[in-house]
Amino acid sequence: MSNDGVNAGRRRFLVAATSVVGAAGAAGAAIPFLGSWAPSARAKAAGAPVRVNISKIEPGQQIVAEWRGQPVFVLHRTPEIMEGLKKLEPSLADPGSKESDQPTYVNPEERSIKPELLLVLGVCTHLGCAPTFRPEVAPADLGPEWVGGYFCACHGSRYDLAGRVYKSQPAPLNLPVPPHSYESDNIVIIGIDEEKV
Ligand code: FES
Repeated sequence: MSNDGVNAGRRRFLVAATSVVGAAGAAGAAIPFLGSWAPSARAKAAGAPVRVNISKIEPGQQIVAEWRGQPVFVLHRTPEIMEGLKKLEPSLADPGSKESDQPTYVNPEERSIKPELLLVLGVCTHLGCAPTFRPEVAPADLGPEWVGGYFCACHGSRYDLAGRVYKSQPAPLNLPVPPHSYESDNIVIIGIDEEKV
């Protein structure tokens, strides 16, 4: 009984002491936070959406945009490429992109809003190297099975032309699809979700 009394008193003291420290800590922390609430113009620009003109990308070609300091591959796929994607599905680790990173408004197999226009981050899901766009069929260095895709030379990961990784590669997941939306037929905005336009 007396123990309970002591403990209760001690507990009240500790609670009171903690509250004082907490209040002082909060007051002390307020100043540095104020400084960080206003992002610099440079930081804003680094995170800002990027408008990309896609009108001049020929079928079968890609351009590389930059968003948040990362490369974004923008590939204009041909009907033949689209046709070939389906046949590859048994060889892929995540053909329906169930585990991979992409917005919900993107077709999970083709991994795009418009079938012909693919946008993926050019960052390998293994350790972050930049894969290379290798659209040619059966080049000597990639072998007779190669039907065009992305190849990461760092540790040999292979992706198809939807950025989907093949089975048994060092990379575990498909290349991520960034948020994007179409401002017009010719302009895609990377960094703004489709629904929010
Ligand atoms: S970083 Fe691409 S395979 Fe390792």
